[in-house]
Amino acid sequence: MRFSRTLLLGGITLTAALTATSSAVATPAGADHHHHRGGHHSSSVPRDSLRALADEVGLRVGVAVNTDLLGENATYTRIVNQQFSTVTPENVMKWEVVEPTRGKYNWAPADELVASARRNGQLVRGHTLVWHSQLPKWLATTAADGSQSTTLSKAELRAVLKRHITDQVRHFRGKIWQWDVVNEAFNDDGTLRNSIWLQKLGRGYLADAFRWAHEADPKAQLFYNDYNIEFTGPKSNAVYAMVKDLKRQGVPIHGVGFQTHLDTQYGFPDLRANLQRFAALGLNVAETEVDVRTFVKEGTNEPVSGLAQSAQEAYWSQTLQACLAVRRCISYTVWGVADSNSWIPGVFKGEGAALLYNDAYQPKRQYGVLQQDLELAAGAPRRRS
Ligand code: G3I
Repeated sequence: MRFSRTLLLGGITLTAALTATSSAVATPAGADHHHHRGGHHSSSVPRDSLRALADEVGLRVGVAVNTDLLGENATYTRIVNQQFSTVTPENVMKWEVVEPTRGKYNWAPADELVASARRNGQLVRGHTLVWHSQLPKWLATTAADGSQSTTLSKAELRAVLKRHITDQVRHFRGKIWQWDVVNEAFNDDGTLRNSIWLQKLGRGYLADAFRWAHEADPKAQLFYNDYNIEFTGPKSNAVYAMVKDLKRQGVPIHGVGFQTHLDTQYGFPDLRANLQRFAALGLNVAETEVDVRTFVKEGTNEPVSGLAQSAQEAYWSQTLQACLAVRRCISYTVWGVADSNSWIPGVFKGEGAALLYNDAYQPKRQYGVLQQDLELAAGAPRRRS
């Protein structure tokens, strides 16, 4: 029980003790500039919005933003700003966007998102600094079989990576709550992915990336982010061993992001247990890219059956409840607004309907499920601050 433990420890007032507890939970990396709470109860934030309800339980709810739509599509923009208290750029902080030509930075779209977040009382998850995908052509090429290569030498590549991390983190210094420093470095079998980073720099690039990012913005929370680690198995175990080792070496890593791209055709993962065991290492955890796909009627975002729809609702509920159950789970982010914005139909044939709003930007039943779960959690004392 957090309440009684706090009271026993301190000679301070109940209010102060509870405030201190919740601040420590929200910002253990010392990001004092982010102490304001997520609700930002201005009149433009409805009391029954996800962000207002989540604020009651000290949780941030986020969304991946497509910056081509933000400010262009009024409905999309209203939903992003009313419903969510953090934003993640879906693409515009990735290397191919920020440095398409070597040495020439393009910060404009990401700067606009960061400015919009500030105006709307939202925090920003920076995504992502070191990844094998969406690299500029001057840096890496990917063959048809997925194998990667670079023409840069080992020394050049290391210098380029250090400069990339340093320049990007410095550019946004003080404006990013959580950085996804390294994204998707592991294969499903638990081995390290054979990216240009591993090929040329060896596994030391992992620790280096966190050290360089920390130097550039000591207050940002630095995350390792991956998918399929919601299930206990070789991949989740390998990531666990890696972050444990980084902590032991004193590498500045503060959290692990569980992407949580789920599919109703597979069983629901032991997500809560995984969040919990990573948290027990003294790390924050977050669900960073939640979506729940299912089979759809051809060419639509309509689930094939009522059963598929119900399964989706159950999965959504469980993803949120897992985060709510773990004190160090500090944010819950969905990977897009409407089904029509989602990456799923383009990648998984015959699947879709993965998000909270339908193609016409109407909230789906999944949305109501999250609302209810947050309301229920607010009634329970555990996370209240
Ligand atoms: O910007 C170009 C545009 O100039 C071009 O005309 C067009 C034609 O294909 O492509 C545009 O780029 C696309 C980009 O999104 C921006 O829209 C890429 O083709 C497309 O592949 C890319 O997809 C993104 C994907 O990451 C790339 O791997 C998705 O939007 C994005 O949702 C997805 O997000 C990832 C996370 O970053 C990491 N975890 C998995 C997640 C889903 O794949």
